[in-house]
Amino acid sequence: MMKAPIATHVLPAHASFDSGELVIAGISATELAKKFGTPAFIIDEGDFNARARAFNTALKNAMGDRAGHCYYAAKAFISVEVAKWVNAAGLSLDVCTGGELEVALAAGFPPSRIEFHGNNKSVQEISRAIEVGVSHIVADSEIEIERINEIAGKRGVKQKILIRITPGVEAHTHQYIATAHEDVKFGFSIASGAAMKALSLAKSSANIEVAGVHFHIGSQITGLEGFDLAIARTIEFLAEVKREISEELAELVIGGGFAIAYLDSDQTIDAKQVIEHLAGIVKEECKKAGLAVPLLSIEPGRAIVGPTTVTLYEVGTVKSVELEQGSRNYIAVDGGMSDNIRTSLYDAQYSVALANRISTSPTRASRVVGKHCESGDIIIRDCELPADIQPGDLLVTPATGAYGRSMASNYNHLPRPPVIAVRDGRARVIVRRENYSDLLSLEVASEE
Ligand code: LLP
Repeated sequence: MMKAPIATHVLPAHASFDSGELVIAGISATELAKKFGTPAFIIDEGDFNARARAFNTALKNAMGDRAGHCYYAAKAFISVEVAKWVNAAGLSLDVCTGGELEVALAAGFPPSRIEFHGNNKSVQEISRAIEVGVSHIVADSEIEIERINEIAGKRGVKQKILIRITPGVEAHTHQYIATAHEDVKFGFSIASGAAMKALSLAKSSANIEVAGVHFHIGSQITGLEGFDLAIARTIEFLAEVKREISEELAELVIGGGFAIAYLDSDQTIDAKQVIEHLAGIVKEECKKAGLAVPLLSIEPGRAIVGPTTVTLYEVGTVKSVELEQGSRNYIAVDGGMSDNIRTSLYDAQYSVALANRISTSPTRASRVVGKHCESGDIIIRDCELPADIQPGDLLVTPATGAYGRSMASNYNHLPRPPVIAVRDGRARVIVRRENYSDLLSLEVASEE
């Protein structure tokens, strides 16, 4: 049998190249492209559910009665339908804007399982969050603590908050997605004393209940050392809080950030193993510090939705470019940086394969580019693809579920791709493709 062009662990659980062409949940890439057009995000619904449940169960098993919430981080990808899946799977939801909150509410997601994030929440966003009764607001600045206190006061409620702290950890990931070192816009630094000051401010605010603390050290983090250190520093901080104000904070949220495999050489993480390990560190550090174990919550986004989704593109042109060190095939597809900004923004690497047929042709050094008007519009910088790829062929890039559609733009007025859910041989649209009327519907032009 021919070697599959992409390793199984990079593909959604129900995808394979067994029949020579890519098949997801029983439907071929060709059928999907014919029915829904390209580019399109194809999400393996069963895989999403399994991954979501795996994290939730791992947290429950590892923490028992000290398990807090397993929040799905909506920023990775949310839609009304996906919010329904998250709800049905029993997870909670982390939203970080009023927009994400409205999607959750439109899905009937119970506000009592919603946590509200963001480093610059507007007065309207805070008011709406309190009005609908979100469970926790994660406070990120003193101004915000004052705002929450005032708005909760006007509404006559006591709002539960978490203080977002920065444990001063350099996570090993791209600088734009590391979030818990000192020189960063997020949270209150433990080291500088800002965290303790914020906590005192919140404690003295009549309309606020401080439930605990939160940190998130970054995203696509491959090793666990950063988490271990952040947990140790945070629990030290909780011990200091106990000494200062004789109170043990009941909740600890350790964020998301768990890495996924984009390339065959990347490893996948096992939710059970990772959560067991982190839960173990929390318990151990609490024991050392003489603290009761807090309710532990996590916020995985990428590790749930990332691997479940692939992007299907159609090849439009192929051009051989002669270079000093040989030649390169530039394969242009019908999307680009508007549906995957991650390559140009973070130097992210993706796998790619021909999806509609087997090719026995030798491979060529290739670059997969989009249709946007700039040379940085690259989806895969360096790859080997069959030399006979031609217009009309389909390409697939796996692991695009997280921060793909959610960071999509309308650059060059490209309508954003749809999201198609596949399950047991059935495919359905869960976010429809944008069209030119959608784009024009925002225009307000003068009459003359
Ligand atoms: N919790 C908080 C507070 C966060 O800020 C994030 C991600 C998460 C949880 C979820 O992290 P995850 O498990 O998905 O890694 N656009 C970037 C990623 C930005 C992540 C922002 N915060 C990318 O495409 O890699």
